[in-house]
Amino acid sequence: MSFRHLFHIPQQNGKDVIYFCGNSLGLQPKQTSAYIQEVLLQWQKNAVEAHFMSPNAWLHYHTLSQPILAQLTGANPSEVVATGTLTANLHFLLATFYRPTQNRYKILCEKGAFPSDRYALVSQIQWHGFSPENALIEVGNTDNNAIPNILSTSQIEDAIEKHADSIALILFAGVQYATGQYFDIQAITRKAHSVGAYAGFDLAHAIGNVPLRLHDWQVDFACWCSYKYLNAGPGGVGGLFVHQNTHLKPRLAGWWGHDLSTRFAMPADFIPEQGAQAWQVSNAPVLQLAALQASLDIFHQVGFDNLLQKSRQLTAYLQEKIISLNQKYQTDLIRIITPLHPNQRGCQLSISVNQNAKKLHEYLNSNGVICDWREPNIIRLTPVPLYNSFEDIDQAYQILDSYYQQI
Ligand SMILES: Cc1ncc(COP(=O)(O)O)c(C=O)c1O
Repeated sequence: MSFRHLFHIPQQNGKDVIYFCGNSLGLQPKQTSAYIQEVLLQWQKNAVEAHFMSPNAWLHYHTLSQPILAQLTGANPSEVVATGTLTANLHFLLATFYRPTQNRYKILCEKGAFPSDRYALVSQIQWHGFSPENALIEVGNTDNNAIPNILSTSQIEDAIEKHADSIALILFAGVQYATGQYFDIQAITRKAHSVGAYAGFDLAHAIGNVPLRLHDWQVDFACWCSYKYLNAGPGGVGGLFVHQNTHLKPRLAGWWGHDLSTRFAMPADFIPEQGAQAWQVSNAPVLQLAALQASLDIFHQVGFDNLLQKSRQLTAYLQEKIISLNQKYQTDLIRIITPLHPNQRGCQLSISVNQNAKKLHEYLNSNGVICDWREPNIIRLTPVPLYNSFEDIDQAYQILDSYYQQI
């Protein structure tokens, strides 16, 4: 099963690169420009009228993505919406779910969370007049410069228990960006709820990568970006999930979250849309939604279960190759940081190397293996099942081997 031909593969020296960077920016589907072109053409020919003209009237364009986003997140379509951007959506969701009191004001997250999430959490805590020093609980190693450690579920549960009376909310990654660890979202949510806290997740590295069942797991809220595994292009439209059991929460409202049936009557008072759509704030970014749709239609065509199967095989194969390289040189040249169990990761393997990781990263990139390097000493290699192949892994292995032969 290959869907590689549906994507533009960047070239280096006349050859396809080995693109292992879908964890950062997914490749462009060949259909993306046609989807965007269609919107541009509607704008050219019909201008404002295009908001209401079928097919794909702009007023409803964001609803096209709801069924597929629902499949990818394990949600009901009304619980998800493509809107805004990740960090901004996180703030909007925190405005609803983080309502600290003198007794319950703490937020718990993983140590080494993506900086933007941490900035958002710290600023929310301060915004409400609390101090991050005692209100932000970070689970994991204490050394700020260390690679975040792999957390056991019981470690996370214990941390929640320890602050049981004072936790307002937990905000965890679905898949940790640096280590590639896929956390047990269901267990974390259950534990958070057992102490009376809300459970939210940043799914930037999880959506389109690992199986999710947000509705059944009773997750309260989640948000994500679409430029990684969803291949919607740089700065693509984000998305959010709000569980349907969430009723009558306060929110920071904007007109695009107002009930559609009266939105254009321009009423003074806000009446929320049904479900997650109520958390939309501004006009939907239709050009970006078109780019997202081009990719989501591929997910729909492929079927996520098929993709997962290939994903596990590809990542296991990469793991095998790395281990065989260590065996060849009879030393731990490369340490795999990401958990080895397939249920605890997606397609990304994060590695650390004994010697200069930056030098290895430069060698890989200049030899056509496009991957990324993250402080303090991590290279992320991500075979994405939609467009990477087993041959990509064989070639990457040869290039890694040639590096170690010459140093
Ligand atoms: C895990 C995670 N959270 C948050 C962000 C920030 O996303 P944005 O810049 O779209 O708000 C990123 C960006 O890569 C990310 O990887």
